[in-house]
Amino acid sequence: MQIVKMEPRHIPAILQVEQECFHSPWSEKMFSEELSGKFSHYYVAEVCGCAVAYMGMWALSGEGHITNIAVAKAYRRQGIAKSLLNRFIEIAKEENLEFMTLEVRTSNTPAIALYESFGFEQVGVRKKYYENSEDALLLTKFFGE
Ligand SMILES: CC(C)(COP(=O)(O)OP(=O)(O)OC[C@H]1O[C@@H](n2cnc3c(N)ncnc32)[C@H](O)[C@@H]1OP(=O)(O)O)[C@@H](O)C(=O)NCCC(=O)NCCS
Repeated sequence: MQIVKMEPRHIPAILQVEQECFHSPWSEKMFSEELSGKFSHYYVAEVCGCAVAYMGMWALSGEGHITNIAVAKAYRRQGIAKSLLNRFIEIAKEENLEFMTLEVRTSNTPAIALYESFGFEQVGVRKKYYENSEDALLLTKFFGE
């Protein structure tokens, strides 16, 4: 498994990961736009040359906004999300970010456990943030001193 920058050639495989992971998956156009964004950082985990997971972040004004992270079902609990997050923490340090932040569904126990294991703290709740009226937890990891 290797973590590499997401390129347009990865999009077909990542669309399949999206379909498997989310009720409202992102489209090809959305990924293409994200990849050309000035402040975007997108990486995938490749296994035997095929993308099985991805993570994205916008970095601007000293802040990192994690847009998403998703791992194909067959590759979960193997440390892939951990490897992606470690790469993004390196990026945060390279970009001198003060913090990284994200929204997560209150019911998403696996993702919340993942983020907490990386030192993300709950800093707020966005009420009825999702289309089914579920609340979002606002989690943030601050970079010290
Ligand atoms: C959340 C998700 C990205 C985790 O990916 P993963 O590659 O399976 O995670 P890892 O194997 O790197 O696990 C890292 C840590 O996360 C936590 N974790 C991951 N899956 C978990 C689960 N099902 N239950 C509890 N904790 C879990 C654990 O702390 C784990 O560490 P451990 O294995 O040492 O106990 C994956 O479940 C996923 O893609 N979910 C669907 C998409 C999604 O909800 N994305 C988040 C949007 S905010």
